[in-house]
Amino acid sequence: MTRKFFIQTFGCQMNVYDGQRIAAMLNKHGFSQTENLADADIIILNTCAVREKATNKVFSALGRVRRAKKTDALFGIVGCVAREAGETAFKRIPDLNFVLGPQSYHKLPEILENPDIKLFNIDLTGLEKFDELPQMEKSPTVAYIPIQEGCNHCCTYCIVPYTRGRELSRPFKDVIRDTEHASETGAIEICFLGQNVNGYKYTDETTGKTYRLSDLIKETAKLVNIKRIRFTSSYPTEMTDDLIDMFRTEPKLLPFLNMPIQSGSQNVLTRMNRPYSLGLYIDIVNGLKSARPDIQISSDFIVGFPGETEEDFEQTMEIVKRIRYINSYSFKYSPRPHTAAALMKDQIPESVKADRLAKLDSYLNELQRKFNESCIGKTMECLCEGPDKTGKHLVYRTPYMQQCIVNTIKDNQEKQLANIRITAANKASLRGDIVD
Ligand code: 5AD
Ligand code: SF4
Repeated sequence: MTRKFFIQTFGCQMNVYDGQRIAAMLNKHGFSQTENLADADIIILNTCAVREKATNKVFSALGRVRRAKKTDALFGIVGCVAREAGETAFKRIPDLNFVLGPQSYHKLPEILENPDIKLFNIDLTGLEKFDELPQMEKSPTVAYIPIQEGCNHCCTYCIVPYTRGRELSRPFKDVIRDTEHASETGAIEICFLGQNVNGYKYTDETTGKTYRLSDLIKETAKLVNIKRIRFTSSYPTEMTDDLIDMFRTEPKLLPFLNMPIQSGSQNVLTRMNRPYSLGLYIDIVNGLKSARPDIQISSDFIVGFPGETEEDFEQTMEIVKRIRYINSYSFKYSPRPHTAAALMKDQIPESVKADRLAKLDSYLNELQRKFNESCIGKTMECLCEGPDKTGKHLVYRTPYMQQCIVNTIKDNQEKQLANIRITAANKASLRGDIVD
């Protein structure tokens, strides 16, 4: 009987990618995936530590896993919570079998060979995992391709430089090999991933040539099977002219960009150690709009950063009004271990954070609804994600990452890319009909 694995992924796209590679690795070891925890011989929680809430979720999930799993099943955590919690994870849950950091999960097979050990490795091994892991046999329609690990920006609230280490860009030829493999095995869209993705910079030692994200985009756009290209997540001041120009010259690049501003207050940005001026951010957005007039921008926001005044918060609301962000995420600030902001005075009370978050969210939702409604009557080329839960509809993604539900499933089942006329919209999604 084939052995089975169960994996649950929390957090960012980088984790989604890590989860896919872990699945591919276990498949190679003869395991098949199960959605049923009680059937699994090995259970992996692939974790995210960026916010306190996400970390807490992992430990409550581990409690549930312990109760539901087969007695002899191996279980453990991989990813950023493993790195953050370290050996204390074994103290909290003594029968845990493995704790592997985001750059050491390729060591997982060691426990398959020797199930009696406690496997622990949270080392920062840089790019080693990319060389060790097997390729996925078949690519998903949207292939997430990491192009770097870690981050050098050291925003004062962020645990990533601690959990994933210093920023390292993968060799250009390795990334291109991965995009080619994805394109040959089913990918239609490539999404380049990195914590600071637009800071990608790799110098080939033999030729001395330096490659940037714009070079990756140009090379990838040559692949005939690849119809859509995007990248996430961008740091504002790394948005260099060559990259902005790609939005003018490369039609496969989607007109949608996640470029987090985090706060609209200059004072807060300084304390966050995000040393760009609001004026510069606005200039970058204007540059992007002149390159691609239909571009839409999304952002992440943190409310209730230590010392954030009512006036600072109002400035965040102002920048949201000005840029008219779509598809954005907002979070209450949560203090993280190993970060400078956790030690700052003037931590904001939970109730104030909650009020500000509610106000910001309601405005962001309003902007999303208005943008969605402005799409009614338009025809957009969309990518199929598959059937919805009922099986009666197909779910597509527009070029702006909106979800679009298509009613008829019968005749259109094969159409991975389709022109869809948008017929209705609300805050969460669009509805549409395939026109060809
Ligand atoms: N508290 C709240 N939100 C955070 N983020 C990162 N660190 C924190 C924190 N300590 C948010 C940022 C980032 C996103 C991935 O998570 O908005 O862009
Ligand atoms: Fe964290 Fe800032 Fe790096 Fe993003 S840019 S991963 S928020 S340190």
